[in-house]
Amino acid sequence: MTIRAKILGTGHYVPERVVTNHDLEKLMDTSDEWIQQRTGIKERRWISEEMGASDMGKFAAEKALEMAGMEASEIDAIIFATLSPDYNFPGSACLMNDLLDIPGTASLDIRNQCSGFIYGAQIADAWIRAGIYKKVLFVGSEVHSTGLDISTRGRDVSVIFGDGAGAVIFGAEETDEEVGILHTEVGADGRYAKELWVELPSSRLIPRLTEEMMAEGRHFPKMNGREVFKQASRKLPSSMLNSLKVCGYTPEDVDLFIPHQANLRIAEMFQKALSIPNEKIYNNIHKFGNTTAASIPIALDECVRNERLKPGNLFAAAAFGAGFTWGSMVLRY
Ligand code: ACO
Repeated sequence: MTIRAKILGTGHYVPERVVTNHDLEKLMDTSDEWIQQRTGIKERRWISEEMGASDMGKFAAEKALEMAGMEASEIDAIIFATLSPDYNFPGSACLMNDLLDIPGTASLDIRNQCSGFIYGAQIADAWIRAGIYKKVLFVGSEVHSTGLDISTRGRDVSVIFGDGAGAVIFGAEETDEEVGILHTEVGADGRYAKELWVELPSSRLIPRLTEEMMAEGRHFPKMNGREVFKQASRKLPSSMLNSLKVCGYTPEDVDLFIPHQANLRIAEMFQKALSIPNEKIYNNIHKFGNTTAASIPIALDECVRNERLKPGNLFAAAAFGAGFTWGSMVLRY
């Protein structure tokens, strides 16, 4: 018998406020046509009142707990992935621990941006298979909207991102069957750190932030879109193929692929590289934009709830993001 990390429940939360491309046309020099053509995004959700990544994470976690038929008190550990934490410190995992009223529970923040779910799943899998924890809550949650340069200066970045949270509960199962996480792989290349980043506030600088720096917009995210596109379109398929190979599978064996929802064009490159038919890949970027660490768990929850992913199905996911970081996973649901 082997201990496997199985999905016990999933959940997601997105704010009610819908921001369409036409809404953005009123805030900056852009167009619905430009955004849809380059990114596939039609609308995204932005918070309409003050709310932190942990608050949205709590709503997503509650839905995952309900699906799992669990009480929060049964969670042994929380992994919280975000690039938009409530505060610089302490991490949002500790805030989540308080919101779920489970003091004493191990709470870990990870900073792996769009690859947060794959990194988080690898940690959950390792903890569970090593017998350290039995039930691990992963939360990916992002409040992007309040950190974007919503003007023509920041339009290349600000039209892409949306707010949202996704949660997945992994639980230990001793079994001889092939079930749960079969393989995860992750990587990073820090040479590209500044190709997609937020520079400020920075502990390297004295002071960390000034009004002058803010006037220059150095506290807003910056992206070399072409480099991101180039690297993501290579890394997503190569990592995914490698993970499938380790498990003895080919893309034809997979019932459902979810690539990180960075940009529809990148997802289409991934689909083409692996010759995936339309019915075996799920994209939701047109309605939520890029929700970074939340993107795969939100899409996964939608697929579980609308039965695009059924018990026994082979599921595969791949991600690429700032760092640059990347990763892929294969799971029998
Ligand atoms: N609306 C209108 N025009 C815009 C916008 C906008 N929102 N943003 C940029 N432009 C303009 C540029 O200023 C430029 O104008 P110029 O020619 O007068 O200088 C023009 O559009 C073309 O800009 P390019 O950068 O050449 O556009 P490109 O065709 O490369 O597309 C894009 C840019 C969409 C960002 C592309 O590089 C891309 O898809 N990159 C991938 C980035 C990505 O997906 N990031 C997701 C986040 S990271 C992640 O999750 C992995």
